Amino acid sequence: MSKDNTIAVSIHPSHSFYSQLQRNTMKPIVLFFTSLVLCGVNGAKILAIFPVPARSHYILGSALMRGLAERGHDVTMISPFSEKNPPKNGSYRDVVLTGFLEERERRSKEMDMFEMENLNLFMLLPFFINMMIESTELTLNHTNVQTLLNSDEKFDLVIVEQFMNEALKGLAPYFNAPMIAFSTIGANTWVNMLVGNPAPPSYVPDALLSYSSNMTLYERTLNTMNYVYAEMLYHFYSFPRHEQLYKKYFPNNPGFYDTLYNASIVLLNSHSSTNQPVPYVPNMIDIGGYHVQPPKSLPNDLQEFLDNAKDGVIYFSLGSNLKSADLPPTKRNAFLRTFSKLKQKILWKWEEDVLPDQPLNVKVGKWLPQQDILAHPNVKLFISHGGLLSTIETIYHGVPVLTIPVAGDQKLNAQRVVSQGFGLSLGYKAVSEETLTQKVKELLENPMYGKTAKSKSEILHDRLVKPMDTAAYWVEYVIRHGGAPHLRVAGVDLPWYKYMLVDVVAFISAILLLTVYVFSKIMHMCIYFIKPTKQKLKRN
Ligand SMILES: *[C@@H]1O[C@H](CO)[C@@H](O)[C@H](O)[C@H]1NC(C)=O
Ligand SMILES: *[C@@H]1O[C@H](CO)[C@@H](O)[C@H](O)[C@H]1NC(C)=O
Repeated sequence: MSKDNTIAVSIHPSHSFYSQLQRNTMKPIVLFFTSLVLCGVNGAKILAIFPVPARSHYILGSALMRGLAERGHDVTMISPFSEKNPPKNGSYRDVVLTGFLEERERRSKEMDMFEMENLNLFMLLPFFINMMIESTELTLNHTNVQTLLNSDEKFDLVIVEQFMNEALKGLAPYFNAPMIAFSTIGANTWVNMLVGNPAPPSYVPDALLSYSSNMTLYERTLNTMNYVYAEMLYHFYSFPRHEQLYKKYFPNNPGFYDTLYNASIVLLNSHSSTNQPVPYVPNMIDIGGYHVQPPKSLPNDLQEFLDNAKDGVIYFSLGSNLKSADLPPTKRNAFLRTFSKLKQKILWKWEEDVLPDQPLNVKVGKWLPQQDILAHPNVKLFISHGGLLSTIETIYHGVPVLTIPVAGDQKLNAQRVVSQGFGLSLGYKAVSEETLTQKVKELLENPMYGKTAKSKSEILHDRLVKPMDTAAYWVEYVIRHGGAPHLRVAGVDLPWYKYMLVDVVAFISAILLLTVYVFSKIMHMCIYFIKPTKQKLKRN
């Protein structure tokens, strides 16, 4: 893996375009020529890597890369998926991590996804970390990635999905390009660490805990313990292992930690309408909602079904990872019995050919165009697992939601749904005909949920520019300036004891101790001088 053929001064096309633009503003013909070039093929070459074998992660990655391709950039996407309809006018190329999806399928057969709810938090994190160390090695050693590394291709920018895959950041210095980190779930421990973002555990709950920012003493204690635990796991367990991989696969790169803390910006899939407000350092950019596309027309049967539902429609989907067809019969029957009593129609994402005992008012589909369905005015309620994409999409279209959280960040999202008032939550274990009926009735009958959902939607849409334009602006900004070191806070470079002011506290304590010591010495001496006088007095 020689790096020689890839080190070369990379010329950033957009950069040269802008300087040309400044020089030539008086020459319309040249300007016309350069803008033709920019809109045509002369975009930047962007490499992105979204290695997580879960469709929701890929949807976010491909939406970003498609958006950039449509703006004239030449994009290359490394992921376990391949794009079925790449943009026709842009340059979009897949480097597929073949075998990843099959491996994931094999593993998910070994464990019951609905049992993930039982994993405790202190076991969950090491489980994820180990899984990601293994998968990072598989990614770097993958034939298709190795072929790319050993080609003499050049890139102007590398975008890395931040998901406990630190070694992958080595791609940026390998291609001599600036790096952007992307977070699928907004600000969290492993993004904050990269850019020195403060997240006081007093009011910022961990993504894996389902707390609101208003925590009780017990919750704050657990949140703080978890914060320290996670920091220690990353720094003393995960990072050293990623450093080994980094050194193995990028032997000529600069040091691991120099690369790790060198993200130009972080793009976050979050927004104040979907997430709690938290502090952001200047290089963290919110683009939540960017993946939602304008509604397309529905297939005829769905259009008819939705148009003719005079009492409204409930849309039920557990997302792309969980399959409602895997629900145990007791839970499935709870849904069936609840639905059969309602006058509303139900559209159910059911992954098999036949739904046993399917009620008349229920229509099933193995795959359903979720965004276009939520956009239909007759959809009155969304029953969801509470994944982040589903939550953003339901807010986008102003539809109230009943979340049935199972794992990951779903409980956190469910908690937000409830505390912000545009829906209710029902833990997976608590699902029964009674509880479901009660929650569904409440959501359909109380108009407050719909109103709140609509006002959330208005907040999500009330922005200076569209979120995809924001994303594209910042991506091009980083390319134009060859990085963004001027946005970096100094806290990134401080060792933890300086950052936490341990040295200052120690210094002040030392001075206090010294003062007390000196004072007690003086007192001691005074007593010493007083004592003999007393003795002298007695003698006299
Ligand atoms: C590519 O097509 C999309 C719509 O499909 C459009 O929005 C975009 O401006 C086009 N880009 C270029 C560079 O022509
Ligand atoms: C890397 O891939 C090669 C073949 O593609 C294989 O022989 C080797 O065992 C792999 N190494 C690791 C550590 O997975």
